Amino acid sequence: MIRTIIKSSGRYVPDRHVTNHELTKFMDTTHEWIVQRTGIEARYWVTEGDDIGTSDLALNAANIALERADWNPDELDLIVFATMTPDVNVPGSGTLLQNKLGAKNVPALDIRQQCTGFLHGLELCDAYIRSEKAKKILLVGAEYQSRYIELTTANRDTAIIFADGAGATCIEALETTDNIGFITSILHADGKYSKALKFGLPANKSGKPISTTIIENREHFPYMDGKKVFKLAVTLLPKLADALLKKAKMSIEDIDMFIPHQANLRINEAFREWMKIPEKKMYNNIQQYGNTTAATIPIAFDELIEKQMVKPGDTIMFFGLGAGLTWGGVIYKMI
Ligand code: UT7
Repeated sequence: MIRTIIKSSGRYVPDRHVTNHELTKFMDTTHEWIVQRTGIEARYWVTEGDDIGTSDLALNAANIALERADWNPDELDLIVFATMTPDVNVPGSGTLLQNKLGAKNVPALDIRQQCTGFLHGLELCDAYIRSEKAKKILLVGAEYQSRYIELTTANRDTAIIFADGAGATCIEALETTDNIGFITSILHADGKYSKALKFGLPANKSGKPISTTIIENREHFPYMDGKKVFKLAVTLLPKLADALLKKAKMSIEDIDMFIPHQANLRINEAFREWMKIPEKKMYNNIQQYGNTTAATIPIAFDELIEKQMVKPGDTIMFFGLGAGLTWGGVIYKMI
């Protein structure tokens, strides 16, 4: 049987390390408030004025993953790029990355599913691999969100959270009789919550991609009804995890490591306590990275591999919730 495995991973964050203390210079906030309400102590942002885009962050992570897999870019059958902050609206960042990698003629596509972009990517890669449409896929999650952040008190709820970074994985087909690699997934969307977390550019509704109304309504900055998204996350994610375990015919004890999307430490702690998961079985790194949206899960996975906190035979649950609303999870067994 063909199984989908993650052969290697890599991560990259830009050089600019931004502490909470630095943010207090621009807005009415404190280090203590940010740590208490989100868990975040610092994050990485692209240095203003640097001539780079999201695909450049992805390129650095992808090069590491490709080198670890010992793959040449032109061996790839597909590039999948999950992001909500593409370099430009058209063309997709996948094609920009394809060119920067020199992955000659390799097809590339973008996934615009925000915080669950990487989870959608894993499911898509599994479908390509099981249907024998691809054997070697590069899946990246990358964001350059700092350029959309307004450093003011009015936008402090989003300014303190969102950050830049990239995580990449080389996904491969493996012929085996073992129940390993991608085990199962569940993905959901509910567009009735589309206004709870949104970014209004480019917009067609006014007949122009950018209009003065959009600027006046401040729709060119991300908007988040944080309380609503928070409540949805703590309600929907435990239900999702239960359904995922049932689908995989597993119990919670069968999961060796939970890798949640890093949106807010309190969301992940509420999930862990509700599900009665021991602390050592859940990985959080939002403290040092902030919320890098599509990149949080592959960055966390890469760190866990590097720290040898996951090993062959371990079963992982990746899960998350974000704009859309979209939420979902994947169960994966390490080889
Ligand atoms: O990855 C995408 C998915 N996103 C999420 O999952 C995010 C979920 N939501 C959250 O993380 C939290 O809702 C936030 C961190 C965004 C906000 O935390 P909160 O505990 O929900 O705060 P709040 O919005 O209820 O605001 C409480 C107070 C307000 O002041 P008043 O009205 O009580 O006087 C805010 O104006 O805290 C104020 N506030 C701040 N104060 C200092 C909001 N942001 C800040 C800030 N610093 N940065």
